[in-house]
Amino acid sequence: MVREIVVYPDKRLKQVSKPVESFDEELHTLLDDMYDTMRAKNGVGLAAIQVGVDKRVLIINIPLEDIPEGEDEQPRENTLEMINPVIVEKDGSTKFQEGCLSVPGIYEEVERAKHVKVEYFDRHGEKHVIEDDDFLAIAMQHEIDHLEGRVFIEKLSFIKRKKFEKEWKKRKKAS
Ligand code: CO
Repeated sequence: MVREIVVYPDKRLKQVSKPVESFDEELHTLLDDMYDTMRAKNGVGLAAIQVGVDKRVLIINIPLEDIPEGEDEQPRENTLEMINPVIVEKDGSTKFQEGCLSVPGIYEEVERAKHVKVEYFDRHGEKHVIEDDDFLAIAMQHEIDHLEGRVFIEKLSFIKRKKFEKEWKKRKKAS
């Protein structure tokens, strides 16, 4: 089921999400709904707080490249579901143009670690470790930031941030 996306500057986006304690039906429904919502909005990742749930849950589904036409580039089974994720290692730095379903239509370059190692639990409470130094590393850092109440535009320089706020106000007026 597609849920409603919380849009900036909604105060909920500033909330620090709470650890998941039970890996139950409610969590599974949340994860399934998050996938449906992400797909409906053409996203590559989503944190639970973006659908108003303050739990440490996020999903990422990076579109497949070079797949036959007409085939699904973000199949459900490719979804990385991360519960209570923790960055245990990070190094290097890289810049990447990011977007966010909670700040629709805005794309800005953000600096993050190049490589991260993340520990997390899957929907069944099983522990995993994943490492990456490519797009997935960026996506994981972006989504984990949401769990800490941070949105990517807060990482912009003062001047860029000002420009964004002005542009955002203008858009809201127009809509
Ligand atoms: Co986001």
